Amino acid sequence: MMSQIPIRMNNIPLKESDQQVLRASMIAELDAASLYDQMAASSSHPNVRKILKSIAEEEKVHFGEFLSQLNIEDGESAKAIAKGDIEARKLREVI
Ligand SMILES: [Fe+2]
Repeated sequence: MMSQIPIRMNNIPLKESDQQVLRASMIAELDAASLYDQMAASSSHPNVRKILKSIAEEEKVHFGEFLSQLNIEDGESAKAIAKGDIEARKLREVI
């Protein structure tokens, strides 16, 4: 299942629009990576699986590129992501 982008960009201020474009692009990359991973898992041909897994990894890199730029464009988002990382690390220490 692919995500749908639930927003009309027409009335959004340009700076915020750029952030929304980056987030929507990240969603698209994760959707693509997930789709290729699922198709790789369902293929019986080793070469087809190899190609699909390689492309899935490329999509994850694309996700990282958009995230990197979003962290520059939206400092609050970058802080929230860093906070989430710290919280997850703490939870893993408890387990
Ligand atoms: Fe991509």
